[in-house]
Amino acid sequence: MTLHTPRSRALGMHLILVLVTFLLASQVLHAHDGVLAPTESATPWGGDYFPNTLLTNQDGRQVRFFDDLIKGKVVVINFIFTTCSDSCPLETARLRQVQQLLGPRVGQDIFFYSISIDPLSDTPEVLKAYAQRFKVGPGWQFLTGEFEAVTELRKKLGLFIEGVDNGRNKDHNLSLIVGNQGTGRWMKASPFENPWILADQLANTLQNWKQPSVEENYADAPEIRPPSNGEELFRTRCASCHSLGPQDGQGIGMRNIGPDLIGVTRLRDPAWLNRWIREPDRMLAEKDPIALELFQRFDRIPMPNLRLDERSAQSIVEFLQEETDRQQPLQAAQVP
Ligand code: HEC
Repeated sequence: MTLHTPRSRALGMHLILVLVTFLLASQVLHAHDGVLAPTESATPWGGDYFPNTLLTNQDGRQVRFFDDLIKGKVVVINFIFTTCSDSCPLETARLRQVQQLLGPRVGQDIFFYSISIDPLSDTPEVLKAYAQRFKVGPGWQFLTGEFEAVTELRKKLGLFIEGVDNGRNKDHNLSLIVGNQGTGRWMKASPFENPWILADQLANTLQNWKQPSVEENYADAPEIRPPSNGEELFRTRCASCHSLGPQDGQGIGMRNIGPDLIGVTRLRDPAWLNRWIREPDRMLAEKDPIALELFQRFDRIPMPNLRLDERSAQSIVEFLQEETDRQQPLQAAQVP
C-alpha cells in the first residue's frame, strides 16, 4: 500500500482549508466551496453545534471532543462501558476487524473513539486494560469524562434515548456513528454490519474530496450468497469474534477473540451448546467447568449474552454443524 502521496496531499489540502477558514470571511469562503469541497457545502455541525467536552483517554491524556477528536476528521464514535456483557464486546470486536482492514490509515486519516458512559468504573486504567484485552491497534482512543457531559455528547450525536440507561437496551444500533466532521456527513452504523462495508464507508465514501483511493481495493470481500437464517445470525452476531475453519477470516488475517468454532458441535453436548449460545454469562456465573476453563484460556474476555432465543440458537448450531460437515466430512462409520 503506498500511502505517502495521498496522505501528504490530504495534509496539504487540510492546511489550505484551515488557512482559508482563518483568513476569509464566511461569504468569501462560500465562493471557494466549489474548489475545496465540490459536492458538499460547509457543514452546519461545527464547533457551535458539538460541545468541546473535556475527556481523558486511556493514557490519562486530556483532550477536547471537538478540537482534538473530530474537527476536520473522519471518525468512528461509539459509546461503551467495560462491564457491559452484551452489545459492547460485539461492537468492540467488530470495530477491531474494521480497524484491521483499514490498516495504517487508522490514526492517519481515520480515527476511532470509544467513549465510556460509565465514568465511575471506567477509569483510564480500566479502559487501557480493556483496549489491551481486545488487542486494539493505534489510532483508537478509549475515553472517559463527566457523566453529564458525556450524556450531552450522546444527545448531540443522536445516540441517546431517554429512559434507556447504561446502554442496556435491545437496539444495538444506538451506539455507533461514523462521520466526516468537515463535510457534515454522519451515518449511524450497526455493529452487525459486514466489516468490509464499514471499512469501505470510512476509507472511501466518507473521505469525499480528501483522498482519492485508487489503491484501496476491497475486492477481497467474501462473495455474497443468500445465507440461511443460522448463517445470517452467525455472520452478524458471532463472526466478529469467531472464525469457522482455517480459511475463514483470512482477509482480516488476525487472531480471533474467541475460539474457532469448526467442530464445536462434535465437541460439546447439544444442550450445553444451545444454552451456552443463549446465556454464557449465567453459565460462567454458575461456574460451569467448561465455561470457566474457556474464560481463562481466552484472556478473560467473556462471551457476550446476545439475547438470542432457543430457536435462533438452534439455527446457529445447525449452521455450525453443516459447516463442520462440509469442511471436515466424517467417514460414515465414525458418525456416532
Ligand atoms: C465479543 C466476542 C464474542 C462474540 C460476539 C461471540 N462470542 Fe462466542 N466466545 C467468545 C469468547 C471470548 C469465548 C471463550 C469463552 C469465554 O472466554 O467466555 C467464546 C466461546 C464460545 C463457544 C464455546 C466454544 C467451545 O469450545 O465450547 C461457542 C460455542 C461460542 N462462543 C459460540 C458463539 C456464537 C454462536 C456466537 C454468536 C451468537 C458468539 N459465540 C458470539 C467471544 C464471543
